Amino acid sequence: MKIKIAIQKKGRLSEKSLNLFKECGIRFENGIGNLKMSATNFPLEVLLLRDDDIPQYVEAGVADLGIVGQNVVWEKTDNVDEIRRLGYGKCRLSIAVDKNYNYKSISYIENLQIATSYPNILRKFLEKNGAKAKIHKISGSVEIAPGIGLANAVCDIVSTGSTLTLNGLKEVETVLKSEAVLIATKNLPAEKQAVLDKLLFRMNAVQKAKDNKYILLNAPNDKVETISNILPGMKSPTIVPLKEEGWSSIHSVINENDFWEVIEQLKKVGAQGILVMPIEKMII
Ligand code: PRP
Ligand code: ZN
Repeated sequence: MKIKIAIQKKGRLSEKSLNLFKECGIRFENGIGNLKMSATNFPLEVLLLRDDDIPQYVEAGVADLGIVGQNVVWEKTDNVDEIRRLGYGKCRLSIAVDKNYNYKSISYIENLQIATSYPNILRKFLEKNGAKAKIHKISGSVEIAPGIGLANAVCDIVSTGSTLTLNGLKEVETVLKSEAVLIATKNLPAEKQAVLDKLLFRMNAVQKAKDNKYILLNAPNDKVETISNILPGMKSPTIVPLKEEGWSSIHSVINENDFWEVIEQLKKVGAQGILVMPIEKMII
């Protein structure tokens, strides 16, 4: 049973989504740029679509899965399953005004006419803040709306911020934070769920590997116990005697987040020749 996944054809998420498949060991027969791509070594077909359409395709079951910004999902439907966050495509949906506009607080919002492709999210944000503003729904190139006199503010995705700067705008309110997510049609049939589980198993291995590093170091034998406590490893660290009498080599895995702190502690207690290496896949 094949599973169909919709991803963005062209844009911020396209390349990273394709790269995720590559890291999961999935290969495709024909090049990128077509509407459909079939995997040669995994029961997967990729549909390349406009990101704004992906939630509806998944909701209707035309695609079983989709990779798209959480912001687009929230705008379009609440009738799909959000399976997991993917850790890339991080951005925020913000309200921005002319850089010279003297905007001081949310109460200033009453004076705004806001152009956006996210009217539903924006409406909820305004309601939550008890603020009134006029919403102009437009489907693309939102950032040019103030320049042509259609509105005096925008509510749009900001990633690096360069689009805003280029258009003489500044951010004044953050509406929400977002990143790429994997979504699925509700109540996938069991055979498709089984393929999804296989895909998730691979994605987990890739993600875990990115979050962790392999570490090797040398230590005098009387320090091995202390060092082992600093480095718990997957089960416990591997300890191998060195040729030089009284010394051992310790191998383990450490989390990226604790990295610098752990290294400092290790040096303090006498670790030497510390080597840190990336891990390609990690299965626990
Ligand atoms: C958003 C937004 C801006 C750009 C902002 O588009 O509409 O064009 O990203 O990025 P920056 O802060 O790095 O300049 P999005 O990626 O959602 O694509 P789309 O509007 O074409 O769907
Ligand atoms: Zn879009």
